[in-house]
Amino acid sequence: MPAKQTNALINNPNAADLTEVAIYRRAIRANLDRVWENVLDWAHLPWLHESSFDYVELDEAGDWGWRTWSNAEHSGTIELCVDRANNRYVTRTYEEALQVAEIWTELEDQGEATNIRVSFLLANIRDEGKDKIGKIMLDAYTQLWDEDEAMMMQRQIRLDEPIINDGILNLGPIQNLKLPMTVRLGNKNWRLLDLDGELFVQAADCPHLRGPLEDALHKTGEIKCPWHGYRFNVDSGECVSPVEANCKLPTAPTIDYRENGTVSLIRSAT
Ligand code: FES
Repeated sequence: MPAKQTNALINNPNAADLTEVAIYRRAIRANLDRVWENVLDWAHLPWLHESSFDYVELDEAGDWGWRTWSNAEHSGTIELCVDRANNRYVTRTYEEALQVAEIWTELEDQGEATNIRVSFLLANIRDEGKDKIGKIMLDAYTQLWDEDEAMMMQRQIRLDEPIINDGILNLGPIQNLKLPMTVRLGNKNWRLLDLDGELFVQAADCPHLRGPLEDALHKTGEIKCPWHGYRFNVDSGECVSPVEANCKLPTAPTIDYRENGTVSLIRSAT
């Protein structure tokens, strides 16, 4: 099914009373592929942008973009439609079928970076409220893009790394370890923790889209990725939620305690 909005890729197809309240420009430190990937990834909204989206439920998604419900009553929707040929997309929000906003984002390929220009058009805004709502939109988008940029940059670093699966990492005297800490072995990050006085090692790269698990809380044997909220059992590596996810944490390195009091991590190619 295509977008619900007819003529979605033209300006103001509903002839709403729209006012441009602000324009946001920024150079995003991620390439165009990462940015498009992020734009189409509706599933990260309630996790990475938890403070901005309190309810997100998928209605439909396709090559054209996606549409989500904004509340459990299904009275509000957000529909994002992409215009790949022109490197732009539009996001419209609706309440009770009435259009509330139309936000156009233009993307400009800059190699390792992507320039964005966002135009915020809101319905039924009085002149005296324009600057205030414009500032709110700019602040909100600054935060959203800060959060997205950080994830895209980390994903790109991980994607660019050479594939090295095995190796030994000598960590030195065990009493000198500053836990918790993150180390690299193979081309993966590993988190070293003190769990009830025992040294414990777990994956710090999410197997879904390589989100960062360094700061994921280790709780009752599980960790949760901040990007899309996937939860993993740290012992088996299995994805606990969502159950349909087809990914698993990599096998953690073995901890090798030496007689001289030093400790190493050993990882064999799998
Ligand atoms: S990167 Fe998507 S859940 Fe971790």
